[in-house]
Amino acid sequence: KAPLRLGIAGLGTVGMGVIKIVQEKADLLALRAGRPVEIVAVSARSKGKDRGYDISGYAWEDDPVKLAQRDDVDVFVELMGGSDGPAKAATQAALELGKDVVTANKALLAHHGQALAETAESHGAVLRFEAAVAGGIPVMKALTEGLAGNGITRVIGVMNGTCNYILTRMEATGQGYNALFDECARLGYLEADPQLDVGGIDAGHKLSLLASVAFGTKVNFDAVELEGIERITNQDIAHAADMGYKIKLLGVTQMTDRGLEQRMTPCLVPDTSPLGQLDGGTNMVVLEGDEVGQIVLRGAGAGMGPTASAVMSDIMDIARDIRLTTFGQPANTLIAATPVMDATP
Ligand code: HSE
Repeated sequence: KAPLRLGIAGLGTVGMGVIKIVQEKADLLALRAGRPVEIVAVSARSKGKDRGYDISGYAWEDDPVKLAQRDDVDVFVELMGGSDGPAKAATQAALELGKDVVTANKALLAHHGQALAETAESHGAVLRFEAAVAGGIPVMKALTEGLAGNGITRVIGVMNGTCNYILTRMEATGQGYNALFDECARLGYLEADPQLDVGGIDAGHKLSLLASVAFGTKVNFDAVELEGIERITNQDIAHAADMGYKIKLLGVTQMTDRGLEQRMTPCLVPDTSPLGQLDGGTNMVVLEGDEVGQIVLRGAGAGMGPTASAVMSDIMDIARDIRLTTFGQPANTLIAATPVMDATP
């Protein structure tokens, strides 16, 4: 069978993670996909930089739109980031030519995912984004394939590792929010705009994508009730601990008779529950299906290996001709007001 030819835009941590997998596991991927998976061209901001892997065999494009439009690219892999600009332009260009797109870009999809999905559909392309939600956890795959026979009743989870790190370290060390924010900056945990993390926006982006896939609704990030962790104090955490709870930045989405509920807010969870036990920079997603009951998925929400692992799962589906679409139909939306005091799985 003909090789699946990739064009990768963005050679940061995730892009290089994908290149590493494609180079080091070529035989395994070919065996599993029933055809070779190859990189033919790449694009990034700086060409000369030493990235630790040999990319000299790939064609270079300065402009990601040109990369997306190359005749020898079957799948455009968008790993640049940013909710607008080149990431959006190049993704759109690829889809308009009927090329499949794999992206890890949660901000892009939260804002433009619906329109991009419609472009994909009208051009016979698929738009896949496993890596955009909860990093290495195969949550999209679980929802669309593993739970295909279920009505999804609720999805809850911790989807921003940085916020979870800050909150768990506040409790464990007694350090204040500001000191831990600075530590995250030093460790390179923060998004380029840190407000995306601590304001709950990044996690809200992810929740809006999860909700859309879980309930077959249009992506509606604007309807997510959002509150970040900036105002959480050590005293709040101590009071919660006295009552046997942890404070987590928790996403909750469910379909109610008033519409789709989407919330990403600090919540109390019992400290003995799986969510309460989730320390450090990890993610956890709890899926509830009407047949299967509850499934708890836990894993790395960021980082080179975990995120590249998720990108590869989408690429491998396309290589195997699994042409699932994920975004759904319109639904009423509900801005919920009730705080969740106990969302324990
Ligand atoms: N800033 C994100 C996090 C990175 O901390 O979870 C992964 O999306």
